[in-house]
Amino acid sequence: MFFQAAVARQELARHLATLNYSISSAAWQKLCMAIKRDLQAKRLRPNVPVPSRRNPVAFYRTMVRETGSVGQAIAAFAHDGAWTSSGGSFRLATTMGIDIYEEAERFLELKQRFTFLEIGAAWAGFRTPISRHKCNDIASMSDVFADEMGQRVFLHFTNLTPWHEALPEGVYEHPYVTAAGLRLLERQGVARGSVDIIYSQAAVYFETDHASFMTSAGRLLSEDGVLIFNHRPEIAAELDVLAAQMGLLPSKRMHLEGMNGDVVRYQRKHNPIAQMPILAADHPIQIYA
Ligand SMILES: C[S@@+](CC[C@H](N)C(=O)[O-])C[C@H]1O[C@@H](n2cnc3c(N)ncnc32)[C@H](O)[C@@H]1O
Repeated sequence: MFFQAAVARQELARHLATLNYSISSAAWQKLCMAIKRDLQAKRLRPNVPVPSRRNPVAFYRTMVRETGSVGQAIAAFAHDGAWTSSGGSFRLATTMGIDIYEEAERFLELKQRFTFLEIGAAWAGFRTPISRHKCNDIASMSDVFADEMGQRVFLHFTNLTPWHEALPEGVYEHPYVTAAGLRLLERQGVARGSVDIIYSQAAVYFETDHASFMTSAGRLLSEDGVLIFNHRPEIAAELDVLAAQMGLLPSKRMHLEGMNGDVVRYQRKHNPIAQMPILAADHPIQIYA
């Protein structure tokens, strides 16, 4: 795990450096913590409730049960607090009354092509049994559109660390990518203005550089593209201003319970991408060990 964390830090730093992106010390520390949490979450079943480390007995018991290893349970104390993965799902979209499958069908009818991107998707549904009845995550969507994958339907997702060794045709994981560093995807075959839906559930939420995220997402979105994610309620106004600069308007925003904040759906109204200069940070990356 220590080795994987070191590799992830190195690769993330390398990716940010290729964008000439300068990251603050505080943001880098948060990413390092998120890497550790991801490495731990990968060992657990999706949705397993992990007690806080402040309750060491309950934490230890859960980790032994989940990992099946005393050694890994003890090592987990050094790595992380309470953290788990929902497995990746379209639950936030559903909460808003948005059916990603119906949206995909609409884009396919309109453009004969559909491209989807999820940010910080973790397992993206590939860890849980794939639902054959409902399109509720990337895994089930790749199953529903099995005949069209890689031809008319393209499903991309990012993660801070790699979660998958193999994926079905037409599904692409982009590891070592942050929400602010989303521009990297343009160097990995995802063309500007080509993504119909960008979605993120409880991942963009942790990004501190909202301006870079909104600019990068806006560049990737297609003419009538849609952006859905949850965020802290107090940054709603700031996000709306950034969105407007990218030709995106909020079509719906809901306040959710607990730590989920607000979930928002932005819709592209006009496309300023063509006139946009390629943005580059003035300073090279600073790496904090
Ligand atoms: C609570 S998990 C949610 C995972 C998944 N979206 C789900 O619903 O199961 C939070 C995820 O956000 C990712 N994350 C944290 N900071 C991030 C950032 N700045 N950019 C992109 N992803 C980030 C972490 O890697 C982690 O996998």
